[in-house]
Amino acid sequence: MLPTADGTRHAAGMPLAEGGRSSGAPPVLETPAGLRAKDLLSIGDLSANEILLILETAEAMKEVGTRTIKKVPTLRGKTVVNLFYEPSTRTRASFEIAEKRLSADTLNLAATDSSVVKGETLADTVRNLEAMAPDIIVLRHGSAGAGHLAARLCRARIINAGDGMHEHPTQALLDALTIRQRKGRVEGLKVSIIGDLLHSRVLRSNVLLLRALGAEVCACGPATLMLPDMPRLGVRATTSIDEAVEDADVIMLLRIQLERMRGYFFPSLREYFQLFGMTVARLRRAKPDVIIMHPGPMNRGVEIASEVADGPYSVILEQVANGVAVRMAVLYLLAGARQE
Ligand code: CP
Repeated sequence: MLPTADGTRHAAGMPLAEGGRSSGAPPVLETPAGLRAKDLLSIGDLSANEILLILETAEAMKEVGTRTIKKVPTLRGKTVVNLFYEPSTRTRASFEIAEKRLSADTLNLAATDSSVVKGETLADTVRNLEAMAPDIIVLRHGSAGAGHLAARLCRARIINAGDGMHEHPTQALLDALTIRQRKGRVEGLKVSIIGDLLHSRVLRSNVLLLRALGAEVCACGPATLMLPDMPRLGVRATTSIDEAVEDADVIMLLRIQLERMRGYFFPSLREYFQLFGMTVARLRRAKPDVIIMHPGPMNRGVEIASEVADGPYSVILEQVANGVAVRMAVLYLLAGARQE
């Protein structure tokens, strides 16, 4: 049984397991439950129950990835366009794998291979794609609000795969899935997010999600990379890494985003690592069962030492694995669960 967005419970209608349990029958979608909104643009648009619905659906989706034939017909006949204006390894690959596992027809379009290089605007590109009747557009863009613009122009559902410094909702969802897997809960945990806070869409989505599920969130970084609205969001802000690490259940490192920096925020990367880099010595202040997370891509020797990234507390590759299941869940709940 999976919870619905309104907190009631219903038969999951998830794809049946491989082998004897399913008798080889094709998976059947039985549930009318989905998400309230047409699009997934921000974690702030989801209720706590909708977040839990996505996480529990993702738990069920993980089973598909363990089968010999990793494919179910859930989104057969649906067309998904992956439109990426910024580079991506994890998000783009995991969306494409998720779409293929759900049997959707997929099209990958990078801005560098499209008419964007000839000067076409985002609005015109999206309108032209919409004319070809896709069901979902997964959009990564360098500008905050790009997904909102596309959502206003399209009947197709828009999934925000990262918009500038604004939000990256599916990253926060896969992070929460990883935390729940390791800790059994999110509520009451001390989650410390350390690094380039100012330029991070991962921070914004994670803060909204972690606070909605009742975690205690501490944000740490140099004063020059701090966000002014942390207290309003219920986040304790500090420039002391020792304070952030002390008794933390979860430590999430954020990349120093040199490509978004206009000006000098700290004297050198070497000094940043000395003051804020996560090392084995610093980790000793955390809880003995602390987990280390990083959304990737990592700058080894800047925000995280290699011994920590590859060490026993690291769940960084579990995050990547969970990205496929979370994106399957989001695609299913947006396009599959509530048929038009
Ligand atoms: N975490 C993340 O968004 O990574 P990519 O930029 O590689 O997609």
